[in-house]
Amino acid sequence: HHHRVGLVAGASFVLGACSGPQSALDPAGREAAEVATLFWVMLAGAAVIWLQVIGAALFGSRWQKQPISERGGLRIILWAGAIFPTLVLAVLLAYGLRLMPVLRTGEPALTVHVSGEQYWWRITYRRPDGAMIESANELRLPVGLPVEVTLESVDVIHSFWIPALAGKLDMIPGRTNRLVLNPERLGTYRGVCAEFCGRSHALMAFPVVVMEPADFSAWLSQQAARAARTADDGAFLANGCGGCHAVRGTEATGTIGPDLTHLADRLSLGAGMFENTPENRRRFVAETERLKPGVRMPSFGSLPEGDLDAIVAYLGSLR
Ligand code: CUA
Repeated sequence: HHHRVGLVAGASFVLGACSGPQSALDPAGREAAEVATLFWVMLAGAAVIWLQVIGAALFGSRWQKQPISERGGLRIILWAGAIFPTLVLAVLLAYGLRLMPVLRTGEPALTVHVSGEQYWWRITYRRPDGAMIESANELRLPVGLPVEVTLESVDVIHSFWIPALAGKLDMIPGRTNRLVLNPERLGTYRGVCAEFCGRSHALMAFPVVVMEPADFSAWLSQQAARAARTADDGAFLANGCGGCHAVRGTEATGTIGPDLTHLADRLSLGAGMFENTPENRRRFVAETERLKPGVRMPSFGSLPEGDLDAIVAYLGSLR
């Protein structure tokens, strides 16, 4: 009985990983669909080879009663060990090579520049009119249109991976890599850093929102605007936050950390770490170094309570 419970638990764990916002086997984009198909074809090919090898082993050890002649042995080795695997692998290789150009085509309708920085994502949209709109830690894309993503790093090697949309691609300092995404299904997915980049590597993620093109255009226009702030930025500026962070339209023009212009509209906080709520904004500002080890921002937990309250209220007003 215990075995059966274990088996069911194990199977649901394995199969559970096949769907959801961060699964390469639940594709929401053309590239990811090709990758998922390739995975199942390779799995089938590997299963065929495996069954054949096990069959040969069983034949040799159990069913073959009298010794095989030297010639017969050589023939088995030739067919089972060379010809058959070569055929299967050649078919898989041809299929894989056919995919390579498929993963590189598409005239982009939009270009997004993504820079990997320990441990967050600087995301800059380039509109067709040439305007650049900087944001961070959240990627929004129009459904049904090819998007070119250019990838760079300012410190160490990171890797940009949205399993539901495409394969991963490294972000290498001093070099620009190019990825084309073709999102085909509306929804919210999850992107991650797929290259170990330091202590908070596992805390470097981002939500990906695939929207109707009209909604996306409206959202991008709203992002291009200055922050509609209703709270006072005195404590934010007095404590030096504007030295690292920019809030467009204010005296805060720092470029070291994430742009905070429309922070309150983002889905997550700390690069995919927390839901973006007032409580979490306060925690993150007060305990940055403990929550995200190795990040460049210091903790501001020792500020007078009034200042912390004012900063959290100000961040919540950035829409
Ligand atoms: Cu960035 Cu791992």
